[in-house]
Amino acid sequence: MLNLINILDSVWDALSEGCEHASDAFHTPAIGTIRDGKPEVRTVVLRHVNREAGIIGFHTDRRSPKVQDLTTGSALAWHFYDRERKVQIRAHGSGLIHTGDEIADEAWEKVSPLGRRCYGQIKGPGVSSTDQQVGLPSLEALEAEEPSIVAECRENFCVIRSRLTEIDWFYLQFQGHRRARFTRTQSDWQSVWVAP
Ligand SMILES: Cc1cc2nc3c(=O)[nH]c(=O)nc-3n(C[C@H](O)[C@H](O)[C@H](O)COP(=O)(O)O)c2cc1C
Repeated sequence: MLNLINILDSVWDALSEGCEHASDAFHTPAIGTIRDGKPEVRTVVLRHVNREAGIIGFHTDRRSPKVQDLTTGSALAWHFYDRERKVQIRAHGSGLIHTGDEIADEAWEKVSPLGRRCYGQIKGPGVSSTDQQVGLPSLEALEAEEPSIVAECRENFCVIRSRLTEIDWFYLQFQGHRRARFTRTQSDWQSVWVAP
């Protein structure tokens, strides 16, 4: 028999697995922001899960429009779906931007040279171009940790951390779907079954 405490545990287990394993369906959630009153959705890679703090996160280019959305007050919506688990998770949370602080520095240390290179593209994400390719810094220079090239890429790197305030869990079960909602209190979660 399902119970709400176990379900919340299973949600955080699944998020942790998604963060760790590139092949896991929860590795690439979609996130939503609001821009000029319109919803915008895109895929990101789940890079951080802290169950105790109720925080998850991803990396991005600080020049990207989604960062602008968060700067202008948009909250974040998260969407995960795993066909094998038969589970959809929707969540709401904050979108805190970390650029020049310890959190961003620590995350940057773990980014590979190939990953770092994306942040060195000449034009910021979404800027129009006459060419299909945008200028990228040399991979060899990044592999050799050439300080000026690494610094150029680091300048655009940013970490987004989202403290979740609500989690909506949906389990596909054709004899009767199951759905539960978890709402963050000061230090814990309130839970309730909801109609699917
Ligand atoms: C599988 C996949 C993973 C992606 N991961 C990220 C990511 O971790 N961070 C990111 O900023 N963009 C990522 N993108 C690109 C975004 O979906 C999006 O196109 C880009 O960030 C621009 O979004 P924006 O214009 O809303 O800021 C990914 C795209 C795909 C297809």
